[in-house]
Amino acid sequence: MVGLGPRRQPSRKGSMADMPRDLLGEIRRLEDIFTVDTPKLKAISDHFVSELAKGLSKEGGSIPMNPTWCMGFPDGHETGTFLALDMGGTNLRVCEIRLPEGKGEFDIIQSKYRMPEELKSGNAEELWNYIAECLAEFIAYHHEGEKLDKLPLGFTFSYPATQDYIDHGVLQRWTKGFDIDGVEGKDVVPPFEKAIAERGVPIKLTALINDTTGTLIASAYTDSEMRIGCIFGTGCNAAYMEHCGEIPKLEHMNLPKDQEIAINCEWGAFDNEHKILPRTQYDVIVDKDSPRPGQQAFEKMIAGLYLGELFRLVLVDLHENPNVKIFEGQDISVLKQAYSLDSSFLSDIENDPYENLQETHDKFLAELKLKCTKPELELVRRLAELIGTRSARLSACGVAAICKKKGYKTAHVGADGSVFNKYPHFKARGAQALKEILDWDKGRDGKPLVPGQGQDPVDIKPAEDGSGVGAALIAALTLKRVHGGNTYGIRDPESMKN
Ligand code: BGC
Repeated sequence: MVGLGPRRQPSRKGSMADMPRDLLGEIRRLEDIFTVDTPKLKAISDHFVSELAKGLSKEGGSIPMNPTWCMGFPDGHETGTFLALDMGGTNLRVCEIRLPEGKGEFDIIQSKYRMPEELKSGNAEELWNYIAECLAEFIAYHHEGEKLDKLPLGFTFSYPATQDYIDHGVLQRWTKGFDIDGVEGKDVVPPFEKAIAERGVPIKLTALINDTTGTLIASAYTDSEMRIGCIFGTGCNAAYMEHCGEIPKLEHMNLPKDQEIAINCEWGAFDNEHKILPRTQYDVIVDKDSPRPGQQAFEKMIAGLYLGELFRLVLVDLHENPNVKIFEGQDISVLKQAYSLDSSFLSDIENDPYENLQETHDKFLAELKLKCTKPELELVRRLAELIGTRSARLSACGVAAICKKKGYKTAHVGADGSVFNKYPHFKARGAQALKEILDWDKGRDGKPLVPGQGQDPVDIKPAEDGSGVGAALIAALTLKRVHGGNTYGIRDPESMKN
């Protein structure tokens, strides 16, 4: 088996012995189409480097490479009290963060509100009203009876947005299955401010940020080696610090060449033109049936929203294929429902510790009303491994590309998101892929490298809370630089000073 990365012990070697020939052939086919070997990883990373540069050029490319007006890292001495709002896929989180005097310290209080599913395909007004209601409720609860000055807010809006200013953001397109009418192509800040003003909520939006930028800055608050912030969750993306001199599309602004600015790559859009990624017939269907076909080609092969769907599509195909016929004679109506499996379904299968895959068997029966034979269990386990491994290995291509572009031989990368935090072996598989792409043989300690054990030259580590602490820090950094006279990307410096 080529380059699939570390697997859980004990090895399940030999378990394919009693596999019928047709299923074995099918497993070999799936291994072939879902495996990304070392030369391919390298080719993808190299192409990625040139696409990152293209996104920064005047002509632009598939990867948006959005300048964020978050200009520079924190020094650990930021202070003040800030609100943070995180509009995630499933929840809306509101936090109040106090940055005290102590270096790298923070206190946080927070509330979580469920994002109603119907909101995701509703209209803009419903969205902004819902968000404003949650903010109003939070303030009413935590500051009952207090007379408040306007609290500065960092709003984590984790979708691609063009920002002319830090408190401005034109939504380029919805991602992650969102499809709310009347938001794309517009600045999201005015309707948000209108909704909070209507409720008299004492808030001043200071910074609109992406979750990746928040992750980068929150992690850098306590780690001076931090260079890249990544999210591997429902969606996937990264942010890093670039010098203005390397951003031709900002040339007209005559910014100092050595001034740093965080770039939200929006790398989910990598290879939308289908030049290099090894797409399977199943990736093609995921894209075609999504609300935004043709967009987010990389994300659709990697991110949590799509892993379960890819798995489901393969199983339906193998049931319907007369030469394979898994689940023969059974009713597959539950499996037939699009997006009925999420990535935790695959995680659970990969976590099944039993040689006979008893937990997987029970899961299929309980959730899909399907009784799997032993060979079928072997097939679904292998399929989950293949899809999970491909996700981790392709993710590593993006990280390697930023390191290559920036010439980083060593770096810390802060990562967050459900796939990174919960999907079994994701970290180890990603670390193994980085080792292959970047040709490491030794770790930072000069000893032979065991990827993912803390000595990797480029080490992907669990991040600090980007959309809470990170958003607060970016608001703090913004106010600090405005007071210091750096007003690049600030629409109205005077209003920020009050
Ligand atoms: C969005 C990004 C976001 C990522 C992770 C993608 O779908 O376009 O803005 O950073 O998901 O949440």
